[in-house]
Amino acid sequence: MMRRIGVLTSGGDAPGMNAAIRAVVRGSTAYGVEVIGIRHGYAGLISGDFVPLGPRDVANTIQRGGTVLLSARSLDFYTPAGRAQAAANAHAAGIEGLVAIGGDGTYQGAWRLWEEHQIPVICAPGTIDNDLCGTDETIGFDTAVNVATEAIDRIRDTAASHERVFFIEVMGRHTGFIALAVGIAGGAEVIALPERVPQPEQVARTIRDAQARGKLSAIVVVAEGAFPGGAQALMQAVHPLLGVKSWVTILGHIQRGGSPTAKDRVLASRLGTAAVEALLDGKAGLAVGVVNHQIHFTPLEIAACSCKLIDPHLVTLAQVLAL
Ligand code: F6P
Repeated sequence: MMRRIGVLTSGGDAPGMNAAIRAVVRGSTAYGVEVIGIRHGYAGLISGDFVPLGPRDVANTIQRGGTVLLSARSLDFYTPAGRAQAAANAHAAGIEGLVAIGGDGTYQGAWRLWEEHQIPVICAPGTIDNDLCGTDETIGFDTAVNVATEAIDRIRDTAASHERVFFIEVMGRHTGFIALAVGIAGGAEVIALPERVPQPEQVARTIRDAQARGKLSAIVVVAEGAFPGGAQALMQAVHPLLGVKSWVTILGHIQRGGSPTAKDRVLASRLGTAAVEALLDGKAGLAVGVVNHQIHFTPLEIAACSCKLIDPHLVTLAQVLAL
């Protein structure tokens, strides 16, 4: 039976990471297992930036955005020497298993640590992007979508009052999960996704058609990676074709901050606890997720493969409901 496990957060922070850390700590305590918090993600594993975590240390964190363990994108961890140092530090500190909370980069790092150094690792999906396989939703996605939707509702007040066209950029360099959800929830006329690169002519035509059907304002939701240069560049390409001035709002890191929604807190609580139970069960090299409401495990190399696809039915739905 494991006596001590480590927990870290890595990559971009996501609301709900603290709820996941709390679940790892308290879930472990329930089984009599000690927890070591590793600060600054994999960089802290390499430098030995460790802190013991007991149940009281994670008090008053479930509602807080960001990560109390701090996060980083570690370049050293991409090198074999960096990973060897990380593994040596983990062994020296008596860390017998690791829960790594983060996105695809975190998963890839964890996979290597398991493959090369046999450190049992379970990953939990902590990213607003929702771009990881093996889970229906990632920790932070629901909060980001709600934050962006509220922002669009506010922008819509001005769009409607002044009969304006707004291009609103949301996060998502490689995938459009946030843009699609936000576009549907915010009633966008156009949703531009990296998976469906928008043609400026088509965007202009869609807006003109909407105007011909009596719409006085329009919202175009643009994932940051949908068009080179993002929403600003897309607006500039559409402007001469449309012939009317348009406005751009880039929501940026607003989407990544703030208190997690109840849904994200529950998801993080389930996944953090399930990760601990998996380690104690002898599982390793896996990502924990929730699929069809059930806890589900996926091999890390599959979960990190960036193969999660947007639902084409939702794309069609968004177009139908913009009529
Ligand atoms: O992966 C999460 C994410 O927020 C992406 O949506 C975004 O493209 C990226 O991180 C921004 O990263 P950073 O804040 O580190 O520049």
